[in-house]
Amino acid sequence: ADAFDEECDYLFKAVLIGDSGVGKSNLLSRFAKDEFRLDSKPTIGVEFAYRNIKVGDKLIKAQIWDTAGQERFRAITSSYYRGALGALLVYDITMKSSYENVSKWLLELREFGGEDMVVVLVGNKCDLDQSREVEKEEGKGFAETEGLCFMETSALKNVNVEQVFLQMITRIY
Ligand code: GTP
Ligand code: MG
Repeated sequence: ADAFDEECDYLFKAVLIGDSGVGKSNLLSRFAKDEFRLDSKPTIGVEFAYRNIKVGDKLIKAQIWDTAGQERFRAITSSYYRGALGALLVYDITMKSSYENVSKWLLELREFGGEDMVVVLVGNKCDLDQSREVEKEEGKGFAETEGLCFMETSALKNVNVEQVFLQMITRIY
């Protein structure tokens, strides 16, 4: 273990959920490694990434879980959510169906996730404004109704990626 592990004040788990192709894996690789891939493949099973963050004077180690949006590639749902304190529920602003499926993902989250889980609704690919199918106000309004935080992001252009993870983390602590 490095020095950070020993000095780390908190370790927490968060999960990414949402339809296939919305950009979950790229949001995570942007956050954890500052990497983006235009040709990324669908996730199979579960992947993890860590990042150490300083919030105020606290050192936090975030363990972020990423799984497949495609049903046939998904791992066991209950273990995916177990112990998670936060979730980023991602849709693609250029794919209406991914937004319409948000309520389906919320049902799953409420079935398997903890009651106090901090959930952020994320409208990704905001760099593609010319192909937009979901208005920002629509997502924002829905999030308010459901009691979720909300933000639009671009993993490609690195817009709000840091902020969306930080918003989740600061709400947890
Ligand atoms: P599954 O693993 O199948 O659930 O998909 P995913 O949600 O992990 O999507 P992934 O991160 O693999 O991204 C899917 C595609 O969208 C890839 O071609 C990415 O390059 C692209 N993509 C992801 N984020 C953005 C973004 O912010 N803007 C644009 N323009 N493309 C993006
Ligand atoms: Mg993926």
